[in-house]
Amino acid sequence: MAGKMKPLGLSRMLRKTPEAATSGIVLRRRLQLMMYNNMYRIMFDRRFESEEDPLFNKLKALNGERSRLAQSFDYNYGDFIPILRPFLRGYLKICKEVKDKRLQLFKDYFVDERKKLASTKNTNNEGLKCAIDHILDAQKKGEINEDNVLYIVENINVAAIETTLWSIEWGIAELVNHPEIQKKLRHELDTVLGPGHQITEPDTYKLTYLNAVIKETLRLRMAIPLLVPHMNLHDAKLGGFDIPAESKILVNAWWLANNPAHWKDPEEFRPERFLEEEAKVEANGNDFRYLPFGVGRRSCPGIILALPILGITLGRLVQKF
Ligand code: HEM
Repeated sequence: MAGKMKPLGLSRMLRKTPEAATSGIVLRRRLQLMMYNNMYRIMFDRRFESEEDPLFNKLKALNGERSRLAQSFDYNYGDFIPILRPFLRGYLKICKEVKDKRLQLFKDYFVDERKKLASTKNTNNEGLKCAIDHILDAQKKGEINEDNVLYIVENINVAAIETTLWSIEWGIAELVNHPEIQKKLRHELDTVLGPGHQITEPDTYKLTYLNAVIKETLRLRMAIPLLVPHMNLHDAKLGGFDIPAESKILVNAWWLANNPAHWKDPEEFRPERFLEEEAKVEANGNDFRYLPFGVGRRSCPGIILALPILGITLGRLVQKF
C-alpha cells in the first residue's frame, strides 16, 4: 500500500468552507464524510460528494442505529444479565429490522450496482479492481455465498469507519488540550518533511513523534476497550479461575494499557513514553499490556490501514492549521 494512498481531501474540504475560520465547523461531520469516502472508495470505487448526500445520510443513520443497538445498555442488558434474556424479544425484533434494512441497502445500492458495472465493463484489469470485485470473484468461484458477501460489507461498515473516526477525534482533542505536544509535533513535521511538503503515507513511517502521539491516543482513548467478544471452545483455567467451554470472554484491554501497576502515570497523555521507557511497544500486539487492535488470529486486519490514516489526517491537520 505504501505510496498509493490517495490524499484525503480534508484540508481541501475545509478550505472550501471559508466561514470555518471565524464561526468554526463541526469537525466530526467532515471527518465522518472523509472516512466513509476512504472506505467506500476502497470497497466500491464510490464516493459521496458532500455531507448532504442523501445516500451518505441513509448509511450514516442506519450504521449509527446499529451501533446504538449493540452498545446501549438500555437495549442489550440481556447480554450482561442472562436471566433477562427472555424479555429481549422486542430488542431482537428491532435488531432484525435494522439488520434487514442495512443489508438491503448494501445490496441494492452497492453490491448489485457493482455487479451490473462488471457485466458491462471489463474490470479484469487489476488496476481497476476494488475490494468488492475480489469478494464477488470469490463468490463466483463458490468459495463464499451471497450472504457472506453482504456480511463482509456489513462488517467493514461497523469495524472500519467509526473506530478510526473516534481515534482521529481523540487525537485532535488531546493535541488541542496539550499545546506543547502539538508544538513538538509541528516541529517534527517541519524539520523532517520540510516546509511546503504535505504529509503522505510513506512519510508517516519516518515521523517518530507523530507515531508516539498516535500510540498514546490509542492507549488512553482506546476505541474498543473490551475488544470484540471471544469464545473459548474448551474448558480452561486462567489465573486460578475455571472458565467453562463456550464462555463469552471480554478482555479489558483498556485496563491492561492503563493499569498503574504496569505503566508510569497512565492517566497522563504523554507520547514520550513510547520513545522512552515503552519504546519497544508496538500497536500490533507485541506486548500484552498494549492491545488496541487485539492480538493473534482474530486481531484487527485493518491496522495497516488505520495507522496510516491516523498519521496522514492528524499530521495534515497540524501542518495546515
Ligand atoms: C483505529 C482504528 C481501529 C481500531 C482501534 C480497531 C480495533 C479493532 C479491535 C480491537 C478488533 C477486535 C480484535 C480482538 O477482539 O481481538 C478489531 C477487529 C476487526 N477490525 Fe479493526 N480497528 C480499527 C480499524 C479497522 C479498519 C480500518 C478496518 C478495515 C479496513 C478494520 C477491520 C476489522 C475487522 C474486519 C475486524 C474483525 C476481525 C475478526 O473478527 O477476525 N478495523 N478491530
